[in-house]
Amino acid sequence: MDKRALLQKFPRSPDVLLALLHALQRANPQNYLTQEDLQLAAEHLGLPLSRVRDAVTFYTMFSLRPRGRHILRVCSSPTCHLFGAWSVLAELKKILGIEVGETTPDGLFTLEITSCLGVCGVAPAMMVDDEVYGNLTPERVREIIAQIRREG
Ligand code: FES
Repeated sequence: MDKRALLQKFPRSPDVLLALLHALQRANPQNYLTQEDLQLAAEHLGLPLSRVRDAVTFYTMFSLRPRGRHILRVCSSPTCHLFGAWSVLAELKKILGIEVGETTPDGLFTLEITSCLGVCGVAPAMMVDDEVYGNLTPERVREIIAQIRREG
């Protein structure tokens, strides 16, 4: 969708800043916000560019660098840590051949860590794009990655 058309779906209210940034980021196949995106958001909402930039740098779900089509965010907070998040992370690094912060050469996955996702009851957990997966094991992680690869 054309970015200007996308902007028109949002009221000109600062309250929608995060939702608008999410939409702009998702509209980019490389899952990041360009300088033009920040400028468009600031103009549309009547906010100083510095305020938009502050929001983007504060929230870890936004990126100013190109990333993979799918973003894997493994929770690294205490409960997930206790329940095996590091074995999940180690499995992801092994099967994807990348470290945290990197993108696979085919551009399909970027691996990140995040703080608590709010689903500690199903630790260890991760998000894949907008979807939360819990009770993870290395085996379950392999299945999830295989399924995403099949779906493209
Ligand atoms: S500690 Fe991982 S979801 Fe809360």
